[in-house]
Amino acid sequence: MRNHRRTENSMYGGIKLFSGTSHPLLAAEIAAYLDVPLCGRDIVRFPNENVFWRLHESVRGQDVFLIQTMGSPVSENILELLIGIDCLRRDSAARITVVIPYMAYARSDKKDQPRVPITARLMADLIETAGADRYITVDLHAGQIQGFFSIPGDELTAFHTLSDYFVSRRDEMINPVIVTADLGFAKRGRNFAAKLQCPMAFVEKRRIGNTAQSEALTVIGDVDGCDVIIVDDEISTGGSVQNTIEVVKSHGARDIYVCCSHAVFAGPAIERLRALPIKEIVTTNTLPLSPEKALPNVRVLSIGSLLGEVIRRVHEGRSVGELFNE
Ligand code: R5P
Repeated sequence: MRNHRRTENSMYGGIKLFSGTSHPLLAAEIAAYLDVPLCGRDIVRFPNENVFWRLHESVRGQDVFLIQTMGSPVSENILELLIGIDCLRRDSAARITVVIPYMAYARSDKKDQPRVPITARLMADLIETAGADRYITVDLHAGQIQGFFSIPGDELTAFHTLSDYFVSRRDEMINPVIVTADLGFAKRGRNFAAKLQCPMAFVEKRRIGNTAQSEALTVIGDVDGCDVIIVDDEISTGGSVQNTIEVVKSHGARDIYVCCSHAVFAGPAIERLRALPIKEIVTTNTLPLSPEKALPNVRVLSIGSLLGEVIRRVHEGRSVGELFNE
C-alpha cells in the first residue's frame, strides 16, 4: 500500500499513538507507516496482579489511537485495554479510537442454547463504558457484531491482502478450489473464489457440545484432482482445519493451502498443523506469532500499513471505504 504522507489538518491536534503490551511489533509497524512515534506510557503489573497505566505526556484535546489486540493472555490484554482507555479518558483526550486487530470472544455472539452469555456484546459494552469513542478492527467472526457497538467503527478486512497473495500464486496451482468449513463464512469464501476465478466447495461442519471440538461431515462440491485453498476467519485449535483436510483428501484433493485472517493457534493447534499435509498456511499479523508457533510453512502477511492508513484517514476525516474502492 502506498504511504500517503499527508499532513492535512484534523479537527483535533496531531495523532497520538499508544499501544498496550499485546503486540509491540505491529504497533511499531503502524507507527513507522504513520511516521509518528509511539507515545510513552508505563504499564505496571503490581504484585497483587492489578494493572496500572501512566502516560508520559498529556493527551488533553488530542486525537488518540490505542492499539491493543486480544491475543493470549486474553483476559490480561482485555483488562489492560480497558484500563488504558480509562486512563486516556481521564486525561481529557478529545477522541479515543481503539485499534483491536483481533477481537476475542467474537464467537460468543448469540444465545444459541439456554443459559449462556453473549460475551461479544459484553466486550462491546465494556469498551464503550471505559470511554472509547470509536473502534477499528479486522474481520470480526460475524459482521453483525458491529451492531453490538453504539459507537462508530470500521471493520476492516484482510481479504485483499490474503487474496492478492493467492492471485500471485494462482499459476502454480492445479485446478484451485476454495473450500470453506463454516457456512457463516460462505459469503467471504465466495469473494475469494470470484477473485481467483475458481469454483468453491463447502465442508459441512458440526460443533460437538461446548467443547472446542468439531466434526466435518461431508463435502458439497467437487475437489477431486484439485488444489484446495481452505479459507476461514481464524484457526484456533486447528480442529476445523484438520477435519476439513481429512474430508477433502478422502474426496481426492491434491495440494492443500490454508488461509485465515487470525492465527490464534491455541492449545493443540501447533501439533496438529505440523502433522497435517499443508503446503502453506497464509495468515496476517493481527496477532503476534511466537517463535514456537512460526512453523516453516506459515507465511504471515502484514496488515500494519492497512491499519496505519485507516488511522490516518480516520484522523483526517476522510473516507475509509474509498481505500477499498467501495
Ligand atoms: C468457527 O466458527 C470459525 O470460523 C473457525 O472455523 C473456528 O474458530 C476454528 O476453530 P478451531 O481451529 O478450534 O477448529
